[in-house]
Amino acid sequence: MGRFLLVLAAFCLLTSAGAAPFENTMAQRTAACTICHGKEGRAGPDGYYPRIAGKPEGYLYNQLLNFRDGRRHYALMTRLLDPLSDAYLLEIAQYFASLDLPYAAPAPSAAPQDLLRRGELLAKVGTGRPDAPACTQCHGTSLTGVQPNTPGLLGLSRDYLSAQMGAWRTGQRRAHAPDCMAKIAKSLTSEELTSVIAWLSSQPVAAGGKPAPALGTSSASMACGSAALPAGRQVP
Ligand code: HEC
Ligand code: HEC
Repeated sequence: MGRFLLVLAAFCLLTSAGAAPFENTMAQRTAACTICHGKEGRAGPDGYYPRIAGKPEGYLYNQLLNFRDGRRHYALMTRLLDPLSDAYLLEIAQYFASLDLPYAAPAPSAAPQDLLRRGELLAKVGTGRPDAPACTQCHGTSLTGVQPNTPGLLGLSRDYLSAQMGAWRTGQRRAHAPDCMAKIAKSLTSEELTSVIAWLSSQPVAAGGKPAPALGTSSASMACGSAALPAGRQVP
């Protein structure tokens, strides 16, 4: 809670200093963002503030638009994005996407081995149900994401993963239609969600792990609106 107040204070300083509005310099932009997202966007210390460094450019851009335009919700951040143009958001996305920084080791999981094994199977093989295919099908065989619009699933905390899957289930988070992740999150049982999240959040990101340049030979069995958007385009 103390840290939250600190963040809030820093945020207020940044936004309410009327004489010094949001300046168009990279240092200022990233200072505002990294108050929450950690040094160079490597994630906050407790995993509540997700990493943004090194994620695919199109994915980051889509998320900035999603927060600004109400498809994702975090009031403190949205206030910062509200006045910014699409072109400026794209520039910010490009900047964070270009950062190539190592990942911290994941927190060890206290989950039982059989639960972790079920989670791994779910991530790599899927459930067998058409609306809950393997995560690797879209997030890449090494789960480090696929350019330009699909994020990796490793290097994220258990809390962040749970919050995102939960938000898709309740409609708090939305992606461009067809929103494949909403269908997947709703299809997974709570036991399946617990196991796949426990496994994902306990996997290290291999040194130099980066989003794959393309999906490769296999193709996804579900359509995802956001994955199909051309990188850097203007969203209507
Ligand atoms: C007050 C704290 C705060 C500030 C300042 C902030 N963010 Fe965030 N940001 C968050 C939180 C919390 C989330 C996760 C919200 C959720 O649960 O969906 C988030 C999510 C994101 C995401 C989505 C990450 C993902 O993997 O989907 C991006 C991209 C992002 N922020 C970029 C930025 C940028 C760029 C700035 C600066 C212009 C910024 N943020 C400033 C708190 C903040
Ligand atoms: C059919 C393709 C597809 C499959 C299969 C898939 N995903 Fe996704 N996922 C996506 C796309 C596309 C996005 C980006 C959505 C957006 O732009 O908001 C995404 C985003 C996510 C995010 C948000 C990450 C962040 O940084 O906020 C999480 C978490 C996630 N997926 C979890 C999973 C899990 C767990 C599985 C396996 C059970 C899975 N996904 C299977 C396509 C897929």
